[in-house]
Amino acid sequence: MRLQGKSAIITGSARGIGLAFTRAYVAEGATVAIADINLPAAEAAAASIGPGAYAVHLDVADQASIDACVAAVVARTGSLDILINNAALFDLAPIVEITRASYERLFTINVAGTLFMLQAAAKQMIAQGRGGKIINMASQAGRRGEAVVGVYCATKAAVISLNQSAGLDLIKHRINVNAIAPGVVDGEHWDGVDAHFARHEGLAPGEKKKQVSAAVPYGRMGTAEDLTGMAIFLASPEADYIVAQTYNVDGGNWMN
Ligand SMILES: NC(=O)c1ccc[n+]([C@@H]2O[C@H](COP(=O)([O-])OP(=O)(O)OC[C@H]3O[C@@H](n4cnc5c(N)ncnc54)[C@H](O)[C@@H]3O)[C@@H](O)[C@H]2O)c1
Repeated sequence: MRLQGKSAIITGSARGIGLAFTRAYVAEGATVAIADINLPAAEAAAASIGPGAYAVHLDVADQASIDACVAAVVARTGSLDILINNAALFDLAPIVEITRASYERLFTINVAGTLFMLQAAAKQMIAQGRGGKIINMASQAGRRGEAVVGVYCATKAAVISLNQSAGLDLIKHRINVNAIAPGVVDGEHWDGVDAHFARHEGLAPGEKKKQVSAAVPYGRMGTAEDLTGMAIFLASPEADYIVAQTYNVDGGNWMN
């Protein structure tokens, strides 16, 4: 019960990695807001978990929605102790086919969403005066460009940079800001990625997943549950002296 009594927001947690984080945090004693743009899915997820989780509508692209989400969490639980910035979108296109609409959509959600959600949480944590933990979801895609994933890679590189700046700025308030960089994690998100590659590279459905699985040193794609240990650790007092870092949890895909 390493997160006993803590109040957490996990953005984009109606499914996938964020949902696995929610289950793991509730099992460790936290109360978690499943803060997602898809409210019916968030409500269904909360109902499947029980009293430790509840749904809050959140669009990380909308400042009023961010502020309302933090206010709703504080009204319900009395505090905000942990934020995981997990909501993000993916897109794929060769450089000469990237559209401004795709660029703006991904930067608005993946980068501005991360920054302004982090800012709103930090303001609340500073007002509370007893620190907090903020975890940003980066990606191996933020460590190195990829030929047809230019915009998404750039957004995750920006998340790693913001994580460093926020980590350095907020530690004086005893708010630890750190990031997790997963590799390839199977789930609905990667079903979509696989379909994208099937369209753009003429691969059979499922082929891209087979290729990336074979390339992971551990020998398979990750699962959302492979990431939960790091997410719990970074939110726990054991991580108090860890500041502005990005940890790869990727089966050995990337070194740095
Ligand atoms: N799956 C992977 O292989 C992988 C690898 C590296 C990094 N990541 C990162 O991990 C995080 C979670 O990935 P996932 O695979 O679980 O994603 P996912 O696509 O399965 O889930 C994303 C969630 O975010 C929500 N969302 C979308 N737009 C939103 C908005 N504007 N406001 C609030 N919520 C919104 C969606 O409704 C959905 O529930 C993301 O930051 C992703 O970039 C994933």
